[in-house]
Amino acid sequence: MRTIRTVAELRATRRPGESVALVPTMGYLHDGHLSLIRAARHQADQVVVSLFVNPAQFNDPSDLDNYPRDEARDAELAADAGADLLFAPTPDEVYPPGFATQVRVAGPLTESLEGAHRGAEHFHGVTTVVTKLLNMVGPDVALFGQKDAQQALVIRRLVTDLDLPVRIEIGATVREPDGLALSSRNVRLEADDRQRALALSRALRAAEGTVAAGTADARQILTAARAAMTPFDVEPEYLALVDPEDLSPVSAVDQETLLAVAAHVGRVRLIDNTILAPPSSNGAANGRH
Ligand code: PAF
Repeated sequence: MRTIRTVAELRATRRPGESVALVPTMGYLHDGHLSLIRAARHQADQVVVSLFVNPAQFNDPSDLDNYPRDEARDAELAADAGADLLFAPTPDEVYPPGFATQVRVAGPLTESLEGAHRGAEHFHGVTTVVTKLLNMVGPDVALFGQKDAQQALVIRRLVTDLDLPVRIEIGATVREPDGLALSSRNVRLEADDRQRALALSRALRAAEGTVAAGTADARQILTAARAAMTPFDVEPEYLALVDPEDLSPVSAVDQETLLAVAAHVGRVRLIDNTILAPPSSNGAANGRH
C-alpha cells in the first residue's frame, strides 16, 4: 500500500476501466473503519482510504487539538485490511490558499440533533470536505459508518441533490464486547469513564427491550432509556426518537424509528444510535445498529 498526499499523485494511480472505492476517515482507525475497508475490498478494484482530520468540522478547538493521530499505525492497519492507497493530504492540499467555497445541506437534517448541539457548521464542514474528497478521488462507491447516522443521511442528501456520480454505502456500527460503539475518541476516555461510557449503549438496549415488551409510546421508551443511563451518572445531551429519513421527532414507534443519543463522558463527547422496529413486527429490526 502506498501513502500519497496530492491529487496529482492520486489521479496518476487511476487505471482505465478499474473501479474505485473510497473509505473517508479522520484516522486513528478502529475495527469500524477496518470493516468498511474490508467491505470496500469486495466492491472495487482499487480501495482508497483517505486520512484527513478536517478542521472545518470541529466546533470545539480542544476536540481538534486532542483528536488522536498516528499515521504510521493507520497505514499498517489500512494495508492489512486491504487498502491499496492511503490518501493523506496536507491541509493546504484540501483547502488551498484563498479557499472560499462551502457546500451546505440546509434544514433539519443539519440543524437538528448534532446540528442543534454542535452547530450546523459541523455538517457544513463535513459536506464541504466530503464533496472535495469525492471530487479528488472520483470513486464509484464511498463507504461510511452507521454510528454517524445523521452524517450518513446528510451525505446521502448531498449526493442526491448534487447528482454526484457515486454510490453511498453505510456499514453497521462495530461494538466492543460490552456494547460500547467503537470511536476514535474512545482512546481518550479515562479508566472510570470507559465504564461510564456504557451508558449510551445501555440506553439503546433498554429502549429496544421496552419496544420488544410491546410499548410503542415514545415517552415511555425514552424514560426507560434515560433510566438506564442514570446508574452511570451520565446525562444525555440529547436522547431522541426521530424519523430515520428526515429526523423529525416521533411520538410513537409505529414504524422504523431512529433512537439517537449523545453525551459527554468525562472530557469526551460520544454518540450512538439504533433503529427500533415497531412492537407489532416482533422486534425484527431490534439489535440493528
Ligand atoms: O466520519 C468521519 O470520520 C468524518 O466526518 C469524515 C466523513 C471522514 C469527513 O471528515
